[in-house]
Amino acid sequence: MQVLPKGVRHMPDFLDREAQEALVAEIRDVVQNAPLYTPVMPRTGKPMSVRMTNCGTLGWVTDQDRGYRYQATHPMTGQPWPPIPDRLLRIWEAVSGYPHPPEACLVNFYSEDAKMGLHQDRDEAEFAAPVVSISLGDTCLFRVGQTRRDGRTISFQLKSGDLVVLGGEGRLAFHGVDRIYPSTSTLLKNGGRINLTLRRVTLSGR
Ligand code: SIN
Ligand code: FE2
Repeated sequence: MQVLPKGVRHMPDFLDREAQEALVAEIRDVVQNAPLYTPVMPRTGKPMSVRMTNCGTLGWVTDQDRGYRYQATHPMTGQPWPPIPDRLLRIWEAVSGYPHPPEACLVNFYSEDAKMGLHQDRDEAEFAAPVVSISLGDTCLFRVGQTRRDGRTISFQLKSGDLVVLGGEGRLAFHGVDRIYPSTSTLLKNGGRINLTLRRVTLSGR
């Protein structure tokens, strides 16, 4: 058994099949309102392989000119993001240990050849709140390291219904998705993987 970096928690099978199905139905509604789009990297304009949308009062976006940031509206439709479903707020309450609700839920969709390079989640003002990540659909190979890019990394599989919490000393741990294992789940009709990350963005009550 590999040892996870301090502050990084993996909670396998946190959601049972019924809860996963209910969550997928809610995310489908979110996506109908706020369509998945292909984000591009700052400066280079290189498209990411993961498609994204958000729910919450703030959503994480990136484009060539303005880079990584949070904003209150969808970059393509100009509309406010749909609210974060209650079911997700309950999960945050159960595992975050943080006394205020999340403001952003980034919805990542991975088709079978999508991946995400090693990065830190550091566009938030509030690092006292953890990042809570939920996996749905096909299994992936997740990689997590230290708070320095050149630190030692370990990788392990995330399956549908698993949670990962990056908190405390692990809040700024580098992490990414090396690959998706196609056809490893029956949850999503057309396959692929959905990852939801709940984040507190602003400093609260201080
Ligand atoms: C992310 O870091 O935004 C996504 C992580 C994941 O897909 O598990
Ligand atoms: Fe991330």
